[in-house]
Amino acid sequence: MAMQFTMTLSRRLVTSAQVIASSTIAIGVLAQPAPAREWLNPPPGDAQIGSSLYQQHCTACHAIDSNKIGPAHRGVMGRRVGSLAGYKYSAELAASRLRWTPQTLNKWLADSEELVTGQRMGFLIESEQERADLIAYLATLK
Ligand code: HEC
Repeated sequence: MAMQFTMTLSRRLVTSAQVIASSTIAIGVLAQPAPAREWLNPPPGDAQIGSSLYQQHCTACHAIDSNKIGPAHRGVMGRRVGSLAGYKYSAELAASRLRWTPQTLNKWLADSEELVTGQRMGFLIESEQERADLIAYLATLK
């Protein structure tokens, strides 16, 4: 009896701890500026897997060191969005005033149109883990 009571009690404690934790998270989200909510941190990525995903998905339009249908990718991490000289970006991308970070890249690869309305890259990666691997790979292109 006593043990059962303790278990019930601790289950209740856990439940209220979860309630407190989830309301704290909710308040934290509300306190952030609106766009930051959309730019989720990718989980840890594997650059080696990212490299083969890049070959598979991106090289139809992109190369590391030359502009093709899309802009060259060397140095992309940390670069201003739409800023590579010699590539003709959509006016929308060039005017976006964003910077490429793991968060903006994650959003771009998940839904580029939601990051920059009017952009011209019609391609997305649905898997969060694949996006993370691709982002880890892009970060190695210095
Ligand atoms: C069907 C062609 C196509 C494919 C496939 C494609 N892209 Fe793009 N990408 C583009 C185009 C076009 C742009 C320029 C968009 C604009 O100017 O609005 C672009 C732009 C980008 C940019 C912005 C770079 C900058 O200099 O600001 C990044 C980052 C990017 N692509 C990453 C990727 C990755 C990673 C993949 C593979 C997972 C990929 N793209 C697949 C066509 C493509």
